[in-house]
Amino acid sequence: MRESSGLSGRIQIAGAKNSVLKLMVASLLAEGNHVLHNVPDIIDVRLMADLLEEMGVTVDLAPPVCRLSVPSEVKLVAPYELVEKMRASIVVLGPLLARYGEARVALPGGDDFGPRPIDMHLDALATLGAKFRTEHGYIEASSDRLTGTDVLLEYPSVGATENVMMAATLADGLTVIENAAREPEIADLAQFLGRMGANIRGAGTSTIAVEGVDGLEAAEHTVISDRLETATYLACLGVAGGELTLVGARPGNMEMLLQKLATMGMQVSPDGDGLWAAAHGRLGSVDVSTLPYPGIATDYKPLIVAMLSVADGVGIVTENLYGGRFRYVDELRRMGADIRTEGHHAVVRGKARLSGAPVKAHDIRAAAALIVAGLGAEGETTISDVGHLDRGYEDLVGRLASVGANIERIGSGDAKGS
Ligand code: EPU
Repeated sequence: MRESSGLSGRIQIAGAKNSVLKLMVASLLAEGNHVLHNVPDIIDVRLMADLLEEMGVTVDLAPPVCRLSVPSEVKLVAPYELVEKMRASIVVLGPLLARYGEARVALPGGDDFGPRPIDMHLDALATLGAKFRTEHGYIEASSDRLTGTDVLLEYPSVGATENVMMAATLADGLTVIENAAREPEIADLAQFLGRMGANIRGAGTSTIAVEGVDGLEAAEHTVISDRLETATYLACLGVAGGELTLVGARPGNMEMLLQKLATMGMQVSPDGDGLWAAAHGRLGSVDVSTLPYPGIATDYKPLIVAMLSVADGVGIVTENLYGGRFRYVDELRRMGADIRTEGHHAVVRGKARLSGAPVKAHDIRAAAALIVAGLGAEGETTISDVGHLDRGYEDLVGRLASVGANIERIGSGDAKGS
């Protein structure tokens, strides 16, 4: 990849990774034929399809459509080989307990973000009556019919909120989740569950009420667009300059980020069924602190740090969710970025230009951030282990090239400039 002189054109935004994975799992709650539209063609969706197939669901995956045929009985096990590849698998626990009163789910291991426990998932499901023991690396879960009750989450965990919300759909009586996560993907899941016959109010706010029903039916739903993919193209634009229309993007789901980008000097405005954005000249710096929605998502942070590396001024970035999520900073420093980290804080002193270098991606958002940095670097940047991108982006490199970025994918794992 080489420094790009300006981006221009339209990009279609795909369905949200962090929504579709949970929607696929939610299908377990009802026998029959479910249909999902706007399904992105990404590896995590294929991994989730593998997990569901292993459990006995027939998955016909032909993005942007995914048909899931759920039999009356499924295998109640999520094996380690699959959970280890994708932590989101843990959300099968709620639906399996709710529908079958039993589940055996491998405990997910750690990852590059540092420790990511699932205690809140288990505590919340236990409040509804589930019992857990851990044996040979697996959570063995059992319950009679779950009973609706008040569940107060210690922290608005996305996964724990989704697990309890799904479990509560088939519980006996009313469940009220307090301090629920408010991410747009939760509201999307609630909408799909509603189409299946669930009785849910308040999804998207911090209090979600679920009145349990006796059974759910298969349903059809269109996945909301991916705000992280949208943010990635905006960050690329911020650094490379130019004008982009992001078709299908939902500005209402990322207002805080758009506000920050406007403060940095970008123009952003809703456009028909999407978002129009422009950047001319060098952006200014801002301070950013990650918070649960509607705050700035932790997943935006690597993109923002990459933008600040070439912005005019000093920006202070504070991570409030994941302890160890600054690894990509070492790679940015290899490109000449002036970033000092201390605990959860990073002080980024913008430079007029970075300098292209061979760098390595440690996770999906880090890979995207290195692309952003590469677009603002003089000379060639080669990113290795860029295969992480395929977990959540549909042909990011090809789409950037189609709007004028000087970027090329070489081989399956690496990206290199022409
Ligand atoms: N946490 C606990 N205990 C729990 C659950 C969470 O301590 O039982 C902590 C985590 O360790 C973390 C924080 O709470 O520090 C946030 O975790 P949360 O449960 O909200 O996140 P998640 O459901 O595991 C989803 C996204 C992540 C995104 C986070 C935060 C999916 C599949 N993943 O994870 O997305 O970073 O919410 O917004 O929805 C990505 O897309 O690259 C990604 C990692």
